[in-house]
Amino acid sequence: MTQAVPSRIRVQPKAGAMPPAVTETTVEMQPLVAPELVFDSRGVSIFYGAKQALAAVNLGIRRGQITALIGPSGCGKTTFLRSLNRMNDSVASFRIEGSILYHGHDIYGSNVDRVEVRRRIGMVFQKPNPFPKSIYDNVAWAPRNLGLRRGLDERVEEALRGAALWDEVKDRLKDSALGLSGGQQQRLCIARAIAIEPDVLLLDEPASALDPIATGAIEDLMHSLKGRFTIVIVTHNMQQAARVADRTAFFSLETSGEKPVGSLIEVDETEKIFANPRDPRTRDYVSGRFG
Ligand SMILES: Nc1ncnc2c1ncn2[C@@H]1O[C@H](COP(=O)(O)OP(=O)(O)OP(=O)(O)O)[C@@H](O)[C@H]1O
Ligand SMILES: [Mg+2]
Repeated sequence: MTQAVPSRIRVQPKAGAMPPAVTETTVEMQPLVAPELVFDSRGVSIFYGAKQALAAVNLGIRRGQITALIGPSGCGKTTFLRSLNRMNDSVASFRIEGSILYHGHDIYGSNVDRVEVRRRIGMVFQKPNPFPKSIYDNVAWAPRNLGLRRGLDERVEEALRGAALWDEVKDRLKDSALGLSGGQQQRLCIARAIAIEPDVLLLDEPASALDPIATGAIEDLMHSLKGRFTIVIVTHNMQQAARVADRTAFFSLETSGEKPVGSLIEVDETEKIFANPRDPRTRDYVSGRFG
């Protein structure tokens, strides 16, 4: 009598154990692997004093991908982005409910070192904000603060190359960063953020003040950084989201009680959000009928 072979075998290796040897049988019967999440936001509501800015956001950010956050002004995109590296902590009225897991750890946990959070999760703001220092010192600032003094010249060069700025500034590293154009300053801020090799880059409308050529340079840069870093970008530019993002999350202002509150309407592959969204509110927004 032959023994019946179960149609589905769930292979669940013990934590830390080597994965099972791949055989024809295991390949066929492996369950689909869920994408690795860098951030997992669960039921996140954010308040500034009595005002609620966001309600119950559940959003996973996938590793090595670019995720775009889009939606009308005031729907909480910046608020959400800043909550990912605890940038809102300095706002006295800020309060968060729910949890944001970073590689499985609660980023708002009581034992979390905020300096370490900022080291791993870099941020670039809408308006370029270089320090009134030389180009070199801007990029060297964070490594120096962390005591990474060895090989500093190489580190600065690598970050400037990574930000596609090296060729334009290599002969003027000692000049003030304030003498750079807006697009160059924004790439310098990206170089400054990547100089300490963070895990994640958060970009809040990084190209909104730039001309199309500088915008193109920033978008090319994002493509080249993808995979090395996980990137979350807020943008009002739909074409930009469509060009750069793997996944897109659409936020909107919803009125359930008295006042409108920011909510995540849907998140999906960027192509799906723009071509065939599930929610009519997303369809109206991406087709320009709203906002
Ligand atoms: N520091 C703060 N104190 C009080 N309220 C704030 C603060 N920051 C943001 N808000 C409020 O939270 C809500 C969401 O703001 P947020 O800046 O996150 O929106 P946004 O989607 O980024 O908008 P925009 O597209 O205009 O940048 C708004 O009603 C805003 O007024
Ligand atoms: Mg904003």
